[in-house]
Amino acid sequence: MEVLPLAHALGAEIRGVDITGAVTDAEIDAIREAWHRAHVIVFRDVEWAPDQHIAFSRRFRGLDDHAATPHDTLEGYPELLEITNIPKNGQPSQTRNTGRNWHSDYSYTNRPAAASMLYCVTKPPVGGDTMFCNMVRAYEGLSDKLKGIVADLQSVYDFSLVSGVGKRDPEKIKELLKINPPIAHPCVREHDESGVKALYVSERTSHFDGMTREESEPLIKFLCAHATRPENVYRHQWHVGDLVCWDNRTTMHLALGDFDESQPRRMLRTTLRGELSGFVVPPAA
Ligand code: OGA
Ligand code: MN
Repeated sequence: MEVLPLAHALGAEIRGVDITGAVTDAEIDAIREAWHRAHVIVFRDVEWAPDQHIAFSRRFRGLDDHAATPHDTLEGYPELLEITNIPKNGQPSQTRNTGRNWHSDYSYTNRPAAASMLYCVTKPPVGGDTMFCNMVRAYEGLSDKLKGIVADLQSVYDFSLVSGVGKRDPEKIKELLKINPPIAHPCVREHDESGVKALYVSERTSHFDGMTREESEPLIKFLCAHATRPENVYRHQWHVGDLVCWDNRTTMHLALGDFDESQPRRMLRTTLRGELSGFVVPPAA
């Protein structure tokens, strides 16, 4: 197995292991270790069916059944989210604007996603890239004083800040807001496998618990800008057959709308289920 760095801050390509075949436990361990180091890992030229995608993902951790976003799963596969701009039953796809602000998956639930594995089925001729940033480096780059301040904060995640909400079916949004009320998680988290500390705040954070929106906004803005500085980012340009796996505990990501929307883009994602976390709070003042 070969691990090739893709960027300075995060990201590595893994070669020399056929993840569509019989992968040994030792290979899984080696992949996991490379993943903890690089935070985002990429496999190329993967040709597989939904069942194989699910089976490979399960080798790492239990999978989320996506009950927080039940409308977005692939029919017959609750373990697979379908992210596409291809219309469904004559209606615009509900996931066509998925991921258009910096975020960590399922932060608005009581089981923030541990990791995600996104597979490219169809892509536009150019663009449709995804960017990733390293939240461990972001945390480590803060002054000791600010590290102390954020250690005391709880980030409140609000489903209504999910990108493209205004473009979704309002009835479905009402239902999703009921399933996913605003929830507070620690602004600095320790990784449950590697123990590393990472910042946990995003463009889906409405405020810090106990503070007003007005008070919180400048700090949220600063922390997001600090985390997403170009030198802390890896930008993935997709090819059909890429499997990109990211650790949601140590990264944020952003799906760029840098493509011709009339061209089809279709991705399938498994979600490695996270630990129970957080407490439900009233919306911000
Ligand atoms: C996701 C997501 C990124 C993309 O699948 O969680 O944010 O580029 N999508 O489709
Ligand atoms: Mn996402």
